[in-house]
Amino acid sequence: MKVKTLGQFIIEKQADFPYAKGELSRLLRDIGIAAKIVNREVNKAGLVEILGETGETNVQGEKVKKLDVFANEQFIAAFKAGGEVCAIASEENDDIIPIDSEISKSAKYVVAIDPLDGSSNIDVNVSVGTIFSIYRRKSLSGPGTMEDFLQRGTEQVAAGYVIYGSSCMLVYTTGRGVNGFTLDPSIGEFCLSHPDMKTPADGTIYSINEGNYLHFPDGVKKYIKFCQEEDKATQRPYSSRYIGSGVADIHRNLISGGIYIYPTTTKSPKGKLRLLYECNPLAFIVEQAGGKATDGFRRILDLDVKELHQRTPLFIGSANMVDKAMEFMKTYSSEAAAVKN
Ligand code: AHG
Ligand code: MN
Ligand code: MN
Repeated sequence: MKVKTLGQFIIEKQADFPYAKGELSRLLRDIGIAAKIVNREVNKAGLVEILGETGETNVQGEKVKKLDVFANEQFIAAFKAGGEVCAIASEENDDIIPIDSEISKSAKYVVAIDPLDGSSNIDVNVSVGTIFSIYRRKSLSGPGTMEDFLQRGTEQVAAGYVIYGSSCMLVYTTGRGVNGFTLDPSIGEFCLSHPDMKTPADGTIYSINEGNYLHFPDGVKKYIKFCQEEDKATQRPYSSRYIGSGVADIHRNLISGGIYIYPTTTKSPKGKLRLLYECNPLAFIVEQAGGKATDGFRRILDLDVKELHQRTPLFIGSANMVDKAMEFMKTYSSEAAAVKN
């Protein structure tokens, strides 16, 4: 079998960007290396002193797990050593991390990252992930600034996720389709396993934390009931699948067809997921695979980014399913209820 590694693939694709000098390629390669290190720790998580909580609370008010901290440190170290980015935004850090070093002086990019997605699954051997989003800087020189991150999702240069699952996969897009790579542990390389990924326009899976049902907007409640109704023509009832790691749920739906919803709830009136380093990168990938991503009313990639840790509701997946859910939102949840940031 002829194997194409992530490194080989990136070099081949560099020719698609004749003006680029290879920085983006190097940045993607650095992400691949950091992902392998995180995967190694995830794989032996039960054996070493890395499970459990650090006792600290992060900027979101959530308990920080040791693996979150480890993953955050690994990716930050990789970006600092690589010299391709002038600032980093991370779920685990209140403020941006500007990079002021000799090698980053002429860095053109900034990166936003959710180093460990699905934290509640770390200790119980269920898939977790990493999400990243890359922008061209807006500021002119020196360390990056907030301005570099307050760009709409449509401005993303590249985005991707890593899923630490039954196998480890890296999936990314630079706006020319989506490609997936599976880590072959015997050679320690990500190998192209899912070229030009396309998501089915229809699906039969819906993914939502139904425990919050009572607190959902009416549009979402009615859509869930629609998913559960019997209808041979549309293969309903759909199956309910919810892992609680957004990356894993969305990855499965991307391949099999389905919808993932994290709506507003009474507890999280703006939704739970973060626009900059969760929703925008996932939306970019899913759109590039032929799917859709909205906040129930508006396209995610068109939303204004005003804060680093801004939240938004998310409806993402197979195009026809997202359209249907939006129809329900329009009918039963007034558009005035759309989250204003
Ligand atoms: P994180 O672990 O980075 O905080 O993100 C978890 C997110 C998302 O990945 C997942 O789908 C969702 O939160 C789960 O939330 P609930 O437990 O509220 O369903
Ligand atoms: Mn997350
Ligand atoms: Mn996280």
